[in-house]
Amino acid sequence: MKCHQKGGGLIKVKGTSKSYPCGLDPKNNNAEMTQYATVAETCIVQLYDRVRYINSSASERLDLSVNEKLQLRVSWNAWNKGDTASRGFESFVKMFQDKPETQQVFSFAKGSSVEQMQSSSKLLFHVTRVFKYINMVIENLDKLENVVPLLRAAGGRHGCSGYNVPKDYFPHLGIAMRSLMKKELSNYTPSNDRLWERLYGFIVVQLCTGIDEYGA
Ligand code: HEM
Repeated sequence: MKCHQKGGGLIKVKGTSKSYPCGLDPKNNNAEMTQYATVAETCIVQLYDRVRYINSSASERLDLSVNEKLQLRVSWNAWNKGDTASRGFESFVKMFQDKPETQQVFSFAKGSSVEQMQSSSKLLFHVTRVFKYINMVIENLDKLENVVPLLRAAGGRHGCSGYNVPKDYFPHLGIAMRSLMKKELSNYTPSNDRLWERLYGFIVVQLCTGIDEYGA
């Protein structure tokens, strides 16, 4: 299988030959690792990513004003109307139509029509998970450091040792989402659109950081 990621690199554990995060690698069956050690290691990695984000420069963080957070929450709720699965499904279908190569990474969706995808429980599972993550970001706009470790870990699972998704595919979903919001929300302003571009851009940066650090 061809790996789509360039570079990579894991965090080396000082004084050992090991690297983080063994516990996040679904294929890792290291017998000497106990379940507790895996949990502890995951916690340490998450804490490390949290602190690193808090201490990063202002240009690397997403700092939003009270008004900007309000605009994001209002537009998200107006668009979803509590049905994130449907909005998620529409966004994925739009991405597959605009960028057919993105459908190819889902082995179970390759070559399927919209109707076939609609009844694919695997695709619905992914769509629901992705939109839960976006919802979690909206719920944590006041404390984005809460979601950074989770986004980076999810990014790691999309790396070449996991789902092997090329990094440049991630922005396509945000573009599809924003074009649907623009079409479906009568009061969606250019200011809303710029904010969503920034927020989704923040999510992509975290996913790609995860691919570089944990997805090799
Ligand atoms: C906001 C963006 C995204 C987030 C938060 C996200 C998150 C997730 C999550 C939570 C899973 C479920 C399994 C797990 O937890 O590891 C998953 C699986 C997967 N994702 Fe994503 N994802 C995103 C975008 C994408 C995009 C744009 C693609 C491809 C174009 C993609 C391809 C995949 C694939 C192929 C799987 C494995 C599905 C399977 O075999 O069941 N993801 N993703």
